[in-house]
Amino acid sequence: MVAPFGRRTVQITRSDTVGAYRVLHAADPEGPAPVAGQFAMLQSVERWGGGEDERPYLPRAFSYARFAGGEAQFLLEDVGPGTNRLDELTVGDEMWLLGPLGVGFSAPADGRRALLVGGGVGIAPLVIWQDTLLEQGTQALALLGFRDRARAQAAELLRDARVASDDGSVGHHGLVLDLLQRELDQDAHAVVYACGPAAMLEAVRAECERRKLPAQLALESGMACGFGACFGCVVPSRDGYLRVCVDGPVIDAARLERVDQHAGASP
Ligand SMILES: Cc1cc2nc3c(=O)[nH]c(=O)nc-3n(C[C@H](O)[C@H](O)[C@H](O)COP(=O)(O)OP(=O)(O)OC[C@H]3O[C@@H](n4cnc5c(N)ncnc54)[C@H](O)[C@@H]3O)c2cc1C
Ligand code: FES
Repeated sequence: MVAPFGRRTVQITRSDTVGAYRVLHAADPEGPAPVAGQFAMLQSVERWGGGEDERPYLPRAFSYARFAGGEAQFLLEDVGPGTNRLDELTVGDEMWLLGPLGVGFSAPADGRRALLVGGGVGIAPLVIWQDTLLEQGTQALALLGFRDRARAQAAELLRDARVASDDGSVGHHGLVLDLLQRELDQDAHAVVYACGPAAMLEAVRAECERRKLPAQLALESGMACGFGACFGCVVPSRDGYLRVCVDGPVIDAARLERVDQHAGASP
């Protein structure tokens, strides 16, 4: 799905706290439905830039977490001025939205099942991807890792997710990679889909390479434009540099020698 040429205003219809995160709903009746894994560039219409230090200035990138009935949902973590401003929006406020942008996930081939591996706010694109796969009748088990209990509450956005937490407050005490290894030891006929911090993505990539398993990684990278013009989002690949916004954000793991340190969700 290709974005219409130009940004449009959308109105906030709902804003929910989910543990440490926010789920922002926005009416976007004109917006084309995204493919899971695609993203939008967002900024509030009011109070965005122009302050003393001009931050936030550029729009920020967010994965579609859901899209239904002309309403988009985004899962946000407040980590800086842009996410803080979006976090403040309430019903009736307006945002500028440019999207859907980029390349999304593609479905498993050969009757393989899907394993969705998410870390922190990086679970966002896996929410819509699990919905899509389950609708198609494809098995899609979610394995999610969080820092703590407050963040782990977002696991409720996915169906029957298995959870790991860094502090042991919820689910498995340890890394989501442990859950993935356990699953693959039982049945390795799978395609792995992952989004999360760079260290997690790199661990998933290396594990799938070792097992010769297909994997699709949703990368993140600092983005200025979101549509291929600024080259601000490049990451190295086996065949040269890729622009995460147009060559990704979903990239076949086999194209990457490693996941660059800056190419993951905020830890
Ligand atoms: C394709 C894509 C999809 C994304 N989806 C989501 C999402 O669904 N939910 C969500 O909460 N966030 C998502 N992000 C990350 C989000 O864009 C950043 O958190 C946001 O830009 C931070 O802006 P800020 O002004 O709040 O903080 P800033 O002060 O700009 O950044 C705060 C911290 O986050 C780091 N950071 C900023 N942008 C990125 C980035 N793009 N990737 C990795 N680290 C970054 C900075 O280095 C800094 O340490 C996504 C990013 C991309 C590229
Ligand atoms: S964000 Fe501008 S080229 Fe990717």
